[in-house]
Amino acid sequence: MNTADLRRRLLDWYDAVARDLPWRVSPADRRQGRTPDPYRVWLSEVMLQQTTVPHAAPYFLEFTRRWPTVGDLAAVEDGDLMGAWAGLGYYARARNLLRCARAVAADHAGVFPDSEAGLRALPGIGAYTAAAVAAIAFDRPANVVDGNVERVMSRLFAVEAPLPGCKEELKGLAASLVTDDRPGDWAQALMDLGATVCKPKAPLCERCPVSMHCAAFARGDPETFPRKTRKAARPRRYGVAWVLTRGDAVALVRRPDKGLLGGMLGLPTSDWAAEPPAILSGAPADADWRPAGEIDHVFTHFSLTLTVMRAEGDAEGVTWTPVDRLDVLPSVFLKAARRALLNPRLL
Ligand code: ADE
Repeated sequence: MNTADLRRRLLDWYDAVARDLPWRVSPADRRQGRTPDPYRVWLSEVMLQQTTVPHAAPYFLEFTRRWPTVGDLAAVEDGDLMGAWAGLGYYARARNLLRCARAVAADHAGVFPDSEAGLRALPGIGAYTAAAVAAIAFDRPANVVDGNVERVMSRLFAVEAPLPGCKEELKGLAASLVTDDRPGDWAQALMDLGATVCKPKAPLCERCPVSMHCAAFARGDPETFPRKTRKAARPRRYGVAWVLTRGDAVALVRRPDKGLLGGMLGLPTSDWAAEPPAILSGAPADADWRPAGEIDHVFTHFSLTLTVMRAEGDAEGVTWTPVDRLDVLPSVFLKAARRALLNPRLL
């Protein structure tokens, strides 16, 4: 592998077609000496571990509008942050986001450490985020490896060992391409290549600036990489969600701090069990419950089918939330509420 030629070609390509992203300093601006704001880089990386660029971008813009600095974010009430995070997925990440922001504000005078090791020592920051922020915000030669970069490496080097077992091997291959020259742009060039050209199912090899260096392209079957061990099927769980309305408000309950969607507001539900419920017990109120259909939701470790029940009535110990404020709910509950209410304001 001619590493120098591969690097030059990919960086030239990035100079020409780098995506314009709200947290990014373009390669041209970077040459002029503009440096990225570490807060924005960190925030974007945490969001992007969760979801795609198009989905994350509006959240990123809203967060940075409401909380322009890490100090502003550190001062947010937990509940406000959780509400703003709704729709971005796993709330453990939002909690870690706050822990990290508060540590930077309290222990580092609001200034992010500028090395990978310093970043890694912050609470709530993992190895990937530390490497990404070190490279992108501080131009440190950190090895930034996410799923996209793993795919690119598996193809460039036609790695036959399957994921997830070959992660370390892929990481080593990625490390062999990192140098002191433009490490921030290098990391982002690989991300852009993975997102726009070296796509999972149908790679656009005719547009790839480094196909002449790609072992999988030479073999003619790049789309078959990375190899994967067969996944165990995701188990399914079942439960009941209760949508109780009182006029224009819906009864919500706060979920226990520990566990899935911990600390979030949600609809009252039964336990989520391996078998569909035989009888629908555990309603939050005596009322004229009517079936409103079912919804499915996919979590990382299981799929969930919820039978949705609907009634008008009253209950104790619930949080009455106006129908047009339900967008703070985690997606699974929003889906169930929509199913029950079929309310155009929610659709
Ligand atoms: N995916 C993860 N991090 C990214 C970034 N900084 N830019 C674009 N895509 C990304």
